[in-house]
Amino acid sequence: MRPLPWRRRPTPCLASLASVLLFAVTVDTVQAAITLNVDDPNSIKAAAKIAANGMMKYYTGDKPGDTPGNLPQPYYWWEAGAMFGALIDYYYFTGDDTYNAMTQQAMLHQTGPDRDFMPPNQTRTEGNDDQGFWAMAAMSAAENNHPNPPEGEAQWLALAQAAFETQAKRWDNATCGGGLRWQIFTFNGGYNYKNTISNGCFFNLASRLAVYTSNATYALWAETVFDWMHNKIGLIDKDYNFFDGSDVLLQCKEFDHIQWTYNAGVYLAGAANMYNFTGGSPTWEAHLRGIIANLAHFMPDQSSQILVETACEPINSCNVDQRSFKAYLARWMAMAAVKAPAFAPQIKAILRANALAAAKTCTGGEDGNQCGLKWTEGVWDGQLGVGEQMSALEIFQANLIDYVPGPVNAESGTSKGDPNAGQGSKVGPGDLHRSKVTTADKVGAGALTLGVCGLFLGGVVWLAI
Ligand SMILES: *[C@@H]1O[C@H](CO)[C@@H](O)[C@H](O)[C@H]1NC(C)=O
Ligand SMILES: *[C@@H]1O[C@H](CO)[C@@H](O)[C@H](O)[C@H]1NC(C)=O
Ligand SMILES: *[C@@H]1O[C@H](CO)[C@@H](O)[C@H](O)[C@H]1NC(C)=O
Ligand SMILES: *[C@@H]1O[C@H](CO)[C@@H](O)[C@H](O)[C@H]1NC(C)=O
Repeated sequence: MRPLPWRRRPTPCLASLASVLLFAVTVDTVQAAITLNVDDPNSIKAAAKIAANGMMKYYTGDKPGDTPGNLPQPYYWWEAGAMFGALIDYYYFTGDDTYNAMTQQAMLHQTGPDRDFMPPNQTRTEGNDDQGFWAMAAMSAAENNHPNPPEGEAQWLALAQAAFETQAKRWDNATCGGGLRWQIFTFNGGYNYKNTISNGCFFNLASRLAVYTSNATYALWAETVFDWMHNKIGLIDKDYNFFDGSDVLLQCKEFDHIQWTYNAGVYLAGAANMYNFTGGSPTWEAHLRGIIANLAHFMPDQSSQILVETACEPINSCNVDQRSFKAYLARWMAMAAVKAPAFAPQIKAILRANALAAAKTCTGGEDGNQCGLKWTEGVWDGQLGVGEQMSALEIFQANLIDYVPGPVNAESGTSKGDPNAGQGSKVGPGDLHRSKVTTADKVGAGALTLGVCGLFLGGVVWLAI
């Protein structure tokens, strides 16, 4: 079997260096900084506030001269989109508007000229999943009735619709009988990879647009994606394992079998929305039941139900991206409990146990309240960063679902949509030469890939020595 491409783009040297440095931080025991009572909404809000505050210490995009929406190195653009998604939920769950202005500024700055989250600065490296995380944040803003951008600016629902439309056009029947490729541009490494997260973001977005707008076209697309993943290719197997992806050069017959929490999560929320859209159909009920049962894959200790990023936590190899994945599983478990109340008791038990476990790790860093990566430790494990903070934030606020009014839809909400949004994009499977991408961009992207691989290999050699 040929080696499959990188799951995410190669870890740049800075990121590897950061992980090494993170492990070198000494664990100093500070008085538990977060005392959490999961039965008291005020206690949960207080914990979420500390976690959000710790997360936003990393963000500099609102400072003069910096770019709104970008996190500094080593964090990729997509994770910033994920972070603003977390903050959009944070305001909804807690009512704390501290980050609303920053969030709106960042979201609007990154929409790109076609208002579809394809900003020219990112097109060298942007994948469908990267675009998807920003689009899902916009979708959350519509569902939460987040304050709308001023008239004349891009609107939340229209942004989600536009990103959806660009991705629907990229659906690639020519290879593997369907599916989205990971990368948007032919010249990017990973263009031959059809992966679970890219298709999962599209599925998640489609299912939520279906529920929000009641437009069955979106639901049909969600059905198409799930059917392709589950019945045609088997990246979602019969036991609801979510394998990472496959390669069009192998006709999608061989998989990268690694499983990540965010893949299970992104489909969990999508399936819950389809269950909701179909009025609780037996098909989607069965999918939902299967996905929830197999979350056990990420709970090595079935009695405590504490979530573990099983592919990397036990061997201390989680990269910067992977450190944030539990955040999205937490977010989407909460969404599933709301959209499929029949499954709420089961999901809420997991959310409670994990919020309590995560809170115990939040004694790190200079301020003594940064959260760790491993929730199984019961203490701070010496690791910290945006991913660790976001994961703690999301698992805390997920426990507030019973104290908020619930999502709105096109009738009860206020966000303006545009079913024709996203028609302007020229990037489809047969049309990958978007005029805005210059030859210099392509050469740059190639050089970047080569350079980064070189640095990465250098790092591996260095570590081996
Ligand atoms: C693109 O990069 C330039 C230069 O760093 C910056 O000024 C601009 O704000 C960026 N635009 C976006 C949408 O990030
Ligand atoms: C892909 O193929 C399916 C049938 O195999 C068809 O229904 C669908 O319209 C095709 N989609 C596109 C975008 O060509
Ligand atoms: C759909 O979601 C709403 C909450 O938005 C919930 O009240 C309703 O019961 C759900 N429908 C089903 C079939 O579970
Ligand atoms: C439903 O969504 C599709 C896909 O975006 C769009 O083409 C169509 O116009 C929408 N229909 C209505 C009635 O809004």
